[in-house]
Amino acid sequence: PTTEALDRAEALITTIPDYPQEGVLFRDITPLLADPRALADVIAALSEPFDGQFDVVAGIEARGFILAGAVAIAAGVGLVPIRKAGKLPRPAASVAFSLEYGEAVIEIHDDIAPGTRVLLVDDVLATGGTLCAAHELVAAVGGEVVGTAVLMELEALGGRAIVGDVHTVFTA
Ligand code: PRP
Repeated sequence: PTTEALDRAEALITTIPDYPQEGVLFRDITPLLADPRALADVIAALSEPFDGQFDVVAGIEARGFILAGAVAIAAGVGLVPIRKAGKLPRPAASVAFSLEYGEAVIEIHDDIAPGTRVLLVDDVLATGGTLCAAHELVAAVGGEVVGTAVLMELEALGGRAIVGDVHTVFTA
């Protein structure tokens, strides 16, 4: 997609003050998702640096699923869900990580083929805890993360410092 197309898509993201709690500026991507051109443009932009280099897309629950499924279809590969604890029915690897308050656990089924090249996709990079845990999960089940792509990086939260190389379509 052109810079103009991505600027147009970015302008559809709405900032909601004090949601879900006071002091938080929430980035609402739903107007972008509802726009067919913007949606197609950001899906293409998410995988662009990695096209032809991955065997599967791993998407992170819940908002990551929306983007990851579309990226997988566009690339002609499958989707592997990384889910919150207790949602996967078969044997799975688990990783716990810290949130601003408390702890979270995410999981992945442990049956991906050894050496599978994985593109990790999520909507937002904030503190980086989620993506770090997702990297660990893929490694734990024998996959290889060949790329990490997020729609929006919240730069002030410093996630890039712990996640490392992340392709971001938008920065706020
Ligand atoms: C949000 C977002 C990312 C994560 C980023 O997910 O979708 O997955 O937080 O934050 P971090 O970089 O600080 O880890 P959330 O846990 O709110 O889940 P949701 O997608 O189900 O709303």
